[in-house]
Amino acid sequence: MSRGAFGRSDAEIDLLVRGMRSGIAVVGFGYIGTVIGAVLADRGWPVTGIDVRQHVVDEINQGKSHVPEPGLGDIVASSVEVGRLRATTDFSVVADNDFIIVTVGTPLGPDYEPIVDDIKAAARAVGEHLRPGHLVILKSTVPPDTTETLVQPILEEVSGLKAGVDFGLAFCPERLAEGQAIRELTSIPVVVGAVDERSARSCATLWRHALGLESIVVEDPRTAEMVKLADNLWIDLNIAMANELAKVCDRLDMDVLQVIAAANSMPKGMHNVNILSPSMGVGGYCLTKDPWFVNHLGENLGLELRVPRTSRTVNDTMPSYTYGLLTQLLADQGKAIENSKIAVLGIAFKNNTGDCRLTPTKYVVELLEGSGCQLTVHDPWVPDEEAHTVTKIPLSPDIESAVKDADALVVLAGHREFHQIPLVRLADLAADRCVFLDGRNSFDPAAARAAGFVYKGIGR
Ligand SMILES: NC(=O)c1ccc[n+]([C@@H]2O[C@H](COP(=O)([O-])OP(=O)(O)OC[C@H]3O[C@@H](n4cnc5c(N)ncnc54)[C@H](O)[C@@H]3O)[C@@H](O)[C@H]2O)c1
Repeated sequence: MSRGAFGRSDAEIDLLVRGMRSGIAVVGFGYIGTVIGAVLADRGWPVTGIDVRQHVVDEINQGKSHVPEPGLGDIVASSVEVGRLRATTDFSVVADNDFIIVTVGTPLGPDYEPIVDDIKAAARAVGEHLRPGHLVILKSTVPPDTTETLVQPILEEVSGLKAGVDFGLAFCPERLAEGQAIRELTSIPVVVGAVDERSARSCATLWRHALGLESIVVEDPRTAEMVKLADNLWIDLNIAMANELAKVCDRLDMDVLQVIAAANSMPKGMHNVNILSPSMGVGGYCLTKDPWFVNHLGENLGLELRVPRTSRTVNDTMPSYTYGLLTQLLADQGKAIENSKIAVLGIAFKNNTGDCRLTPTKYVVELLEGSGCQLTVHDPWVPDEEAHTVTKIPLSPDIESAVKDADALVVLAGHREFHQIPLVRLADLAADRCVFLDGRNSFDPAAARAAGFVYKGIGR
């Protein structure tokens, strides 16, 4: 049994961590847990993933990952093979690890409120096996005060130990983005908010040696919890602004990307203006819920916040806006959508991932299905099972069969594979004067037009 990292001297923690003799348990082996666990194992740490889903555990122990993230499959396979990564449903392994990282999900409820049931269950199960010296790090996105008023009391009650005295407790928001998760996990600074100074130090020491990252230590867990929500509110609102600029530029027949690139050259404060890119919609597990967490927080505090609701509402208009662009483009070619063949390329919520959770592409596909058009769908990243959550139309096995005789190609996720096939080849396969609606602005308009397509992006 481990003696743990919390409560030791700095030099001892340093030695323990530097020597990679600490075991790390990762509770919740979903998207984030698998990335964190596999990267730590790949860097030499003994990692045990704990999840309540038996099939996830079985897959990991076979060296496979269900998480569609570039590069992840390889490091899961190699780490399992050398014995540094394993998974289990048995929480008793918590006792043998110095660090316990909790990454269970925090979905949005029917009234746009955060659901923290999995956090409570995980805290209870961890608490049963908590030992003096453990450091517990919560990484799930949660409303402020969750670590100290929900997780800490459960851990203390179940274990009979005291946070900040017997065991360490910290909140460190996970700020990586899917599609580049492995690189971002080892490059984005870690924010640490702990219940006491010793917890903060143990945590910062872990991240320094484990990921080569310095920590930004904030006052307490609640501040760190708010940091994550502030990040995602900024991103969602920024994209909402880009999307409304794109709508204006569409009407003015102007290229919004040129406007944004030039606008972003202006220094403001310590950095430049940084307007993000417009697209056919915002999806995924974080940006679609975290602004609502802020909105809910405001309601609890008696505040009527307008920003989170606005950003969510604007971004939620983009799928129907995209569908409107398509029908107009087809009409300009003298075609009605119900008589057209449409090829959708990419249904994941983001370029170069296979994640379809809360994907805005679903709404475009639903509108297309309702239109009576002849529809084909292709996505090389999305497994059939996951695709079923978006459409019941079976995925076309390759881009050629999807695109054949199409009146319109609608790119909803700009995966790199779509860029590897020459545009002239696609234009040859498609119908004459085929519309190319680039919902991710990921193609060069001039190249698409030169290939023979009627090109249109979002705002360009
Ligand atoms: N996906 C992202 O890009 C991202 C980025 C930053 C932060 N986050 C946050 O990280 C957290 C996890 O997100 P995710 O995308 O990995 O979610 P996920 O749904 O992919 O993974 C959660 C995992 O926790 C497991 N789980 C549920 N209850 C459990 C319990 N009691 N004990 C053990 N395991 C349990 C589930 O089976 C699942 O495998 C969320 O709070 C999310 O907001 C996600």
